Amino acid sequence: MTASKLKNKFLQFFQANKHEIISSASLMPDNDPTVLFTTAGMHPLVPYLLGEKHPAGARLANVQKCLRTGDIDEVGDASHHTFFEMLGNWSLGNSASPDGVGKAGYFKKEAIEFAWKFVTKELKLGPEKLAITIFAGNNNIKDYDQETEKCWLDLGISADRIAKLADNWWGPAGQTGPCGPDTEIFYWTGADKAPAIYDPKDDRWVEIWNLVIMEYNKIADHKYIPLQQKNIDTGLGLERTLAALNGYDDNYQTELFQPMIKKLEKIADTKYEYFKKEFRIIVDHLRAATFLLGDANHVSPSNKGQGYVLRRLIRRAIIYGKKLRIEQNFCTELAKVIIEDKYYSQSYPEIKENKNFIFNELNKEEAKFSKTSQDALNKLAKKQPLELHEYIDGKEPAPKVTEQELKLATLSGKEAFDLYQTNGLNIELIKEEAKKFGLIFGPEQIKEFEAEFKKHQDLSRTASAGMFKGGLADDSEMSRKYHTATHLLHQALRKILGEQVEQRGSNINAERMRFDFVHPQKMTAEEIQKVENLVNQQIKKGLNVNCQEMTMAEAKEYGAIGFFTEKYGEKIKIYTMGDFSKEICGGPHVANTSELGKFKIIKEEAVAASIRRIKAILISNE
Ligand code: SER
Repeated sequence: MTASKLKNKFLQFFQANKHEIISSASLMPDNDPTVLFTTAGMHPLVPYLLGEKHPAGARLANVQKCLRTGDIDEVGDASHHTFFEMLGNWSLGNSASPDGVGKAGYFKKEAIEFAWKFVTKELKLGPEKLAITIFAGNNNIKDYDQETEKCWLDLGISADRIAKLADNWWGPAGQTGPCGPDTEIFYWTGADKAPAIYDPKDDRWVEIWNLVIMEYNKIADHKYIPLQQKNIDTGLGLERTLAALNGYDDNYQTELFQPMIKKLEKIADTKYEYFKKEFRIIVDHLRAATFLLGDANHVSPSNKGQGYVLRRLIRRAIIYGKKLRIEQNFCTELAKVIIEDKYYSQSYPEIKENKNFIFNELNKEEAKFSKTSQDALNKLAKKQPLELHEYIDGKEPAPKVTEQELKLATLSGKEAFDLYQTNGLNIELIKEEAKKFGLIFGPEQIKEFEAEFKKHQDLSRTASAGMFKGGLADDSEMSRKYHTATHLLHQALRKILGEQVEQRGSNINAERMRFDFVHPQKMTAEEIQKVENLVNQQIKKGLNVNCQEMTMAEAKEYGAIGFFTEKYGEKIKIYTMGDFSKEICGGPHVANTSELGKFKIIKEEAVAASIRRIKAILISNE
């Protein structure tokens, strides 16, 4: 089984069952302050899971590129990844869809029947090798999911192969939002016959499919309210399923990673089998970095938010490269393998389109990091190891070591944290380097390092809690206002600076909006003023915000702007504001521009060559 075949089978199966196929969204969500990355296929669908009508109807399916960094420390084993692809199907509400005949949504029973049929009939995985988990109830939601259990039993699955677990709960993707109990399908990867009784602790059972019964909205910590619209959200991991279907117990043996691994074997002049952990981390992280840099909403490595995660991925790959004794720059060579790979470039043409950007950014980051890791080595070289004396065998009296000498010979936890924080070395590398330099770095120093680490984590957690406060659900008013203002700004920039202005990224939170666009030079103060005035004029005019649904081809014909990346023929939404703006967008928006208050640009700066960034705020009229 190949990755393309598996994806096609999946999409065809759901298409035959009246689902519309939608495109993969950006890895960096547009205008959603609740998360940094698209972590699941459901994420771009949040407004529709909360009740907004989706233009493609109530049954959807797709393949979504995702990025999760929560498990970054697990990467290195056979089945964890930061970047991965998820096959998903959705039902938005289980009542009849307004689109009418045959496209009504569905709920637990049908979702379970679809999944079982696909796994056993289409993929032909034997039921004797499958097991199921269901929700056992927990402190927030007490009841166990008996109805789901009954659906599985009705399909003929033995009760011994069904486990009830308290943590079978999925979501929300951010701090708040849609979530619910889930039921998972596990596949037996052991060499022997699968045991009759399913033991969830036996890791030869690998989860392949997660079906979420999305019937709650988390509105605050421990606070869940039933969703008016009962949804189904499922996710089947491409990498794991492909490995299972090909009889591998290691995802990295699949065609998704082998070309990179082969290249890395050449570069490092060694074999995967001797350094599995290092190889896996390097190829996983550089695959993720290539997709982040190649995304339509791409970012550059930086010290904040998405750019920081990207930087961390690249630097970790480089550090593990050093462990393989790679002397030369190697990141772009591995990125090139993905970009030139038939499977990846056909599935995600954007990585080919952005290849120069990917190569430039990787090269720049690698050069920069080589310097900072050199700075780290210089810091270590300034320390002074204690001379080793013969007193060890008792022949000489122990030498008197002054406090100053001891201090110089010890790498303190604080100094180690600085190497981590400023120079990007991780603790393992710090331990190794300290040893190489003959410095004391023992349990006491490591404890101090960990305390510093925790302090920093608490600080950044507080910062991110602030940043993410007010998710989509409870912040809809400001979200709507900033969404709408973004369209006005985009169009105003095109009118004042010219039609080469094109959106490259957009992000909003409760306090401000940020908009990245193509423009070769810094805007003058006069241009900024003109753009601001033009937006404010449109607000004053009180333009109605109207939404129409059409295909991509119709939208182009209509003169709408925005990303034309979706599949041809798929219905999309176009928002118009008077004669001023026509733009592709998922919404949500205010009803009339007069609701926006006063628009003010607070910053204009460069983010990359020919990409400018504007930060702006809305000031209430009251
Ligand atoms: N949202 C669920 C998951 O990520 C199902 O897609 O597992």
